[in-house]
Amino acid sequence: MATYEVLVFPDDRLRKHAKDVTVFDDELKQLAADMFETMYQHEGVGLAAPQIGISKRLVVIDPQRQDEQGNVIHDQLVLVNPEIFAKQGEETAQEGCLSVPSYYENVTRASEIDVRYQDLDGRVIEMHADGFLAICIQHEVDHLFGHLFLDHLSSMKRQRIEKKIAQKQRDAKHQQNHK
Ligand code: NI
Repeated sequence: MATYEVLVFPDDRLRKHAKDVTVFDDELKQLAADMFETMYQHEGVGLAAPQIGISKRLVVIDPQRQDEQGNVIHDQLVLVNPEIFAKQGEETAQEGCLSVPSYYENVTRASEIDVRYQDLDGRVIEMHADGFLAICIQHEVDHLFGHLFLDHLSSMKRQRIEKKIAQKQRDAKHQQNHK
């Protein structure tokens, strides 16, 4: 197992369109496993390959529900070449992103979706999702198009967050230069 560095906004690589996966081999399975490892390390619930600088239409998700005893139930989902082909309803929920660390904002998305994707063996699967899973899938598929949850906010809110992040990064650089 290996973990990757997660790219952080405003890295240009987060803005690229990812390429279709065409080869379903052991290397792809290893990449998905390493993406789960990276995601768990950062306590995330979803990760898209562009977030680790790999231009592939590949997403891993694990909503990690808790049962009544407080045990974490893992539910790993790998989506290769996902396409959301139907959307219904509307829901607003708080979102964060490993590429925009420590910012959480309300985002409005479809409450139900239908998604077509391939598994790690290339089999085509269709799935209906709602609730938290539907939100996760929409958030991660956005990454494959170079979109971040910030793009769904009002321009005023987005600019305020972008300014704060830029300031934080300048401060971090300044501190590093004076070590
Ligand atoms: Ni994200």
